[in-house]
Amino acid sequence: MQGKRILLGVTGGIAAYKSPDLVRRLRERGAEVQVVMTAGAREFVTPTTFQAVSGRTVRSDLWDAAAEAAMGHIELARWAHAVLVAPASADFLARLATGQADDLLATLCLATEAPIAVAPAMNHIMWANAATRANIGTLTQRGVQVFGPAEGDQACGEVGEGRMLEPLELAERVGALLSGSGALAGRRVLITAGPTRERIDPVRFISNRSSGKMGFAVAQAAREAGATVVLVAGPVSLPTPAGVRRVDVESAADMLAAVLTELPGTDVFISTAAVADYRPARAAEHKIKKTTETMELAMQRTTDVLATVAARADRPLVVGFAAETEAVEQNARTKLMKKNLDMIAANEVGHDKAFDCEDNQLIVLSRNGRHELGRAGKLTLARGLVGLIAQDLAARVGARTRGTARA
Ligand code: CTP
Repeated sequence: MQGKRILLGVTGGIAAYKSPDLVRRLRERGAEVQVVMTAGAREFVTPTTFQAVSGRTVRSDLWDAAAEAAMGHIELARWAHAVLVAPASADFLARLATGQADDLLATLCLATEAPIAVAPAMNHIMWANAATRANIGTLTQRGVQVFGPAEGDQACGEVGEGRMLEPLELAERVGALLSGSGALAGRRVLITAGPTRERIDPVRFISNRSSGKMGFAVAQAAREAGATVVLVAGPVSLPTPAGVRRVDVESAADMLAAVLTELPGTDVFISTAAVADYRPARAAEHKIKKTTETMELAMQRTTDVLATVAARADRPLVVGFAAETEAVEQNARTKLMKKNLDMIAANEVGHDKAFDCEDNQLIVLSRNGRHELGRAGKLTLARGLVGLIAQDLAARVGARTRGTARA
């Protein structure tokens, strides 16, 4: 976290008494911390405490002319490498979800392009309330990272889910979110994920069982490794990993169009999507009626997104996925060669394996390498895969440099 700039928002909740310790934990790791308090937070802890531990004047008023003259709120929003709101009260989550800009902290969250994380802290019934659940759903869909809350004793004397995570854990989570100095720092990674839907008529489609979890985990891992990540996602109900830009698509044709739009400047293309191989040759304009005992649907091949990218002269490093029910490694190697890929990650599917489950295992093949990533959670596997990709990229740069030196 050395040299990283963290904007720490503190909102009104009893857990605010832990936030000065959080400032210390972040600073211990080398981060600069600017505290911004809401009016509610000031009822629990004084700005003087935060000023002492952060070494910076605390901000809290949108209309503070002197502070604005020193660093305007838009400038402050740009200054931050990450925003962490801890504790995040139910009220603040609601204001963030509705995009309000009625105080300094909410305005900064709206104006920043940095990843935002919130650490909710509230009574367990407030946390379970449908309104809070809906706000959390909205925020996660928009890529806000939600850290916790934990379960346990609450300040109100009750027990349940709603305690803010401990400062040490929050500091570690922010570190993971930030690690812009990782192995893919400065790289742009484009990822496809999820299934596609191919229209039969206005109310029906053909799709598959892909949950998108592996692709989303790869996006998170690439982001953690410091890359700028664009995730082209088919229809899935998964939260966008923090700091990742997501482009939603529906059909294979939409996915191809989005990928080609996003491709310029991309260093690595990772194709995890379960793109439909065929689509109905014609989508009916109106709902098809059941007038016959049997019906036939003429299908036509979709364009292979991965092969299209791999065939371009200005191709990035191209990584495919192979989901196989048999002869996993052999089929994957055939795909690696046939589609002219740099790397392929193969897994066995079917018999309740891989699709829509939490863990998996991968065999990663490249032109002259083979690695096994043993059964583990998808995020762990994704981090392993990203590590292999980073090694491959570094080796290419090394080879180019040595080539130049010889020339
Ligand atoms: N893929 C793609 N566009 C398609 C089809 C597949 O980008 N229209 C990509 C997937 O994202 C994955 C890889 O290609 O990275 C999977 O290869 P593919 O040969 O399509 O797998 P299968 O459909 O299982 O192939 P086959 O039926 O030939 O085994």
